[in-house]
Amino acid sequence: MLAVPAAVFALWAMSATAATNDEIAKRLEPVGQVCVQGQECKGMAVAATAGGGGAKTPDEIIAKHCNACHGSGLLGAPKIGDTAAWKERADHQGGLDGILAKAITGINAMPPKGTCADCSDDELKGAIKKMSGL
Ligand code: HEC
Repeated sequence: MLAVPAAVFALWAMSATAATNDEIAKRLEPVGQVCVQGQECKGMAVAATAGGGGAKTPDEIIAKHCNACHGSGLLGAPKIGDTAAWKERADHQGGLDGILAKAITGINAMPPKGTCADCSDDELKGAIKKMSGL
């Protein structure tokens, strides 16, 4: 007879802990979350859906994810609007789809999907087109 209440208590204790951890995680969530390579960016997904939901425009993606590096050429990133620099890369890697593939997997200091973990390939392509002018 003792086994039943014990199990109920164990379940209760587990769910209570889960709720608490969730709350703590939420409170700790930084506003502008930085994503670590190889990890999913949950905060980014929330931010993206909060901005109207549905498909993201290239401008939104660039402003939120790509501009941090590609705006200034940080870490050797090709700059937004510097079509020659982008074209040079595209020419050596099979065109726009070639550099898109690298953007998806990441290359050197360029993080996978440029930190936009929930961007589709098409959305990334749109952002690359816009940044490169190609
Ligand atoms: C943390 C900085 C950073 C962010 C954020 C970032 N990039 Fe990059 N990106 C780089 C760097 C650095 C390179 C150059 C990598 C190299 O060739 O060594 C690069 C290169 C690229 C390339 C060229 C790849 C190739 O094959 O030469 C594409 C395409 C690209 N980025 C797309 C994007 C897109 C789209 C976003 C936003 C969704 C983005 N990047 C966000 C740093 C960044």
